[in-house]
Amino acid sequence: MTRIFSGITPSGHLTLGNYLGALRQWVAAEHSPSDALFCVVDLHALTVEHDPARLRRLTRQNATLFLAAGLDPRRCTLFVQSHVAEHTRLSYLLECTATDGELRRMIQYREKAAKAEAAGQGVRLSLLTYPVLMAADILAYAADEVPVGEDQRQHVELTRDLAVRFNQRYGHTFTVPKATLPTVGARVMDLQDPTSKMGKSSENTAGIVYLLDEPAVITKKVMRAVTDSGEGGVVYDRATRPGVANLLDVLAACTGGDPEKLAEGYAQYGPLKRDVAEAVVELLRPLRERHAGLAADPGEVERVLREGAERARAIARPVVDRAYEAIGLLAP
Ligand code: TYM
Repeated sequence: MTRIFSGITPSGHLTLGNYLGALRQWVAAEHSPSDALFCVVDLHALTVEHDPARLRRLTRQNATLFLAAGLDPRRCTLFVQSHVAEHTRLSYLLECTATDGELRRMIQYREKAAKAEAAGQGVRLSLLTYPVLMAADILAYAADEVPVGEDQRQHVELTRDLAVRFNQRYGHTFTVPKATLPTVGARVMDLQDPTSKMGKSSENTAGIVYLLDEPAVITKKVMRAVTDSGEGGVVYDRATRPGVANLLDVLAACTGGDPEKLAEGYAQYGPLKRDVAEAVVELLRPLRERHAGLAADPGEVERVLREGAERARAIARPVVDRAYEAIGLLAP
């Protein structure tokens, strides 16, 4: 059976990008014969400036959204990273496998470090080792597949490299995982700045559709999305018309169509935007409705997370114990 692992960092409210790039794939995976674990990776949220009370709130809210998106705790394991000590236990062994050079080459590290420096904040050491902890998340569960959006591809590649290197040096210990990306929606762009990714920690919220935005707010954000002059009609070209291409991608991801073919059905941007807004509102409607019910019962979410952590521990512990032995540490 295929083992699947993926996670989301509780660094902000979840966005349409998180849903189309990751969450929606997770829900689909749950219905194929697989053994899946999904995690709110709270330790990763500590790698940049954070507020403790907000982190607790977002961790709970992200977990609630996992359920609201349709993940069923009877078919998969849902848990919080810091509840399972195996992640940090394994991370140290992988820090002894990775090199400083390969971590400094990570695109996200370079972007986030530059941002922290520009804001006059120190760059936390954990920001550099972040992809190693991510590799530990994946390898501790012997995951075969990691459903993620485009921006995490490089981190999964590093995970593969570390698994292969460890196996070559110390004997076969880890399953070498692969990233799985959706065909459309793997990189949803910011509606106000379509050359940047729609990110949950971006400051300009006008360009971001949050999963819990009211329908009227979603419509307003989509109708105000940045496009070009519109001369020459509606065409799909990511390089020269990133704003329109993004809208077509989102429409395709919501309706299951092909962005280039969808473009042929429009002569102007107005009707395209209206259809995108409607498709997004409809896509997120069931999630919003389920979230309202779940938020009223926080005890249920806590129970799911407690049981999930137990199941996760039982899977990860023997894998991490084997790695400790393989690398030469004396069993206690
Ligand atoms: P994070 O929290 O930034 O994003 C969670 C997931 O959402 C995807 N995603 C997007 N997909 C399409 N368009 C976008 N605009 C967009 N923004 C985000 C991400 O690709 C991701 O799949 N490092 C990870 C969390 C992590 C993880 C792991 C993932 C930690 N350990 C182990 C998989 C396996 C992160 O910060 O994702």
